[in-house]
Amino acid sequence: MLHREFPSLPVRERFLPFALPSIGEEEIAEVTDSLRSGWITTGPKVKRFEEEFAQYIECPHAVAVNSCTSALHIALTALGIGPGDEVIVPTMTFCSTANVVVHLGARPVLVDVAEDFHVTPDTILRAITPRTKAVIPVHYSGQAVDLASLYDIARCHGLAVVEDAAHAVGAEYDHHKIGAAHHTKALGLDNHMVCFSFYAIKNMATGEGGMVVTSGDELVERIRRLSLHGMSRDAWKRYSGSGSWYYEVLEAGYKDNMTDIQASMGIHQLKKLDRFIDTRARYARSYSEAFVDLPEVETPLILPNRKHAWHLYVIRLVLERLRINRAQFIEELRARNIGTSVHFIPVHLHPYYRERFGHHRGVLKHAEYLYDRIVSLPLYPGMTEDDVHDVIGAVRDVIAANRR
Ligand SMILES: Cc1ncc(COP(=O)(O)O)c(C=O)c1O
Repeated sequence: MLHREFPSLPVRERFLPFALPSIGEEEIAEVTDSLRSGWITTGPKVKRFEEEFAQYIECPHAVAVNSCTSALHIALTALGIGPGDEVIVPTMTFCSTANVVVHLGARPVLVDVAEDFHVTPDTILRAITPRTKAVIPVHYSGQAVDLASLYDIARCHGLAVVEDAAHAVGAEYDHHKIGAAHHTKALGLDNHMVCFSFYAIKNMATGEGGMVVTSGDELVERIRRLSLHGMSRDAWKRYSGSGSWYYEVLEAGYKDNMTDIQASMGIHQLKKLDRFIDTRARYARSYSEAFVDLPEVETPLILPNRKHAWHLYVIRLVLERLRINRAQFIEELRARNIGTSVHFIPVHLHPYYRERFGHHRGVLKHAEYLYDRIVSLPLYPGMTEDDVHDVIGAVRDVIAANRR
C-alpha cells in the first residue's frame, strides 16, 4: 500500500517487479512427474503440448521449440531465405526478430511503425524490392496487426508471411486466434507460419520455449526436422519401446527442440491462459480508466475487430507537458518501488544494426518518437488489485510532481 503520510519514502514497502510468471502447484507436480519418469528431453509431454496447443489455436500443426527466436529462425530457414534475400521487419521489436534474418545471411529491411506500434500496409509496400522474400509482422504488446491488408499485400507480391506472435498467444483477429487456420485460408498460401514465445514473463511461460504453427502439411515436416538436427521423422522416439535405433539426417538441422520438462509447464499454463488474459485485461482497463484525466499520459490504442492478449501495457508520455524525460520518469517510479520496462529500443538504433546497415537516428522517425516516450507498466495475473492501485498512485504522483 502507498505511504502517503511519508512522501519522502518510496510509496510501497516492497519493490513491485515489472513482471513475474504465474506458476502453480499443477506445473510443479507435472515437472516433478517428468523428472521422476526419466524422460527429461523431447517426449510424450511435448507431443501432448503440441496437440493441445494446436487445438487451442485451431491450427492443424504445432511444433514446440526452445524459444520464439528458434521458431522464427526455423520458419525463415524452411522458406529457404538466404544470402541476397530481404525480409521486412518493423524496427519496433525485440532484436531477435531481425537477428534471425542476419543469421541466414539475408538482409533485415527495418521499417517504421505507426501510432499503434504496427507496421502499416503503405510502409510495407514502399519497402518491397525484387529481393523481398518475406515480411515478419509483430503483434506488438498482444494486439494483432491489420492481417487482412497484410495478407492482401503478401498475396499480390508473392511474399511469405512469418508472424512474430511472441506477445500474442490467445489474441484474436476477426474472432479467430492469431495462428488459426482460418487466417491461413484467407491468405491462400501454404507457406504461412506463426511463431509464439513462452519466455519466463510471456502470457504463458515454460521458462524458455516457443512454438511454430502452420497449416502446411509438408511444411510442418520440414519444421520438425529442422528443429532436431534434420533427422528423419519421430527421431525422439528412438529410445522408447516403439522406437528404432535407425535414423537418417536429411539436412543440417538445428538443436532447437523443446524438452518434456518445459512442456510439463506449458500443458498447465495453456489451461490457465484465458483466465490469465482476463486478469490482464481487467488490470489494463483499471489503468486506462485511472489515467483518463491525465493529459500527460496517453493510454494504449484499442483497435477494432481484435481481442487483445494484453502482454504489455505501454503508456506514452506527453513530454511537452512534463519537466522530466522518459528515463527520469522510470527512475521516479523506481524510487516509488515500481518496476517498469521499455518495449522496445528500436532495432535500428542498436550499435550492431547502425554499424552493419548504416542506420542512424532520424531514419525511422515515428518509432524513434515513440521510443522516447514509452513506458511499460507492470501487468501480470500475479499482481493484486492493491498492486494495480499502487502503480496508478505512483504514476499519478510522479506526474503531479513533474507537471510543466
Ligand atoms: C516481439 C518479440 N519477438 C521475439 C521474441 C523472442 O522470444 P524468445 O525469448 O522466446 O526467443 C521476443 C521476446 O521477448 C519478443 O518480444
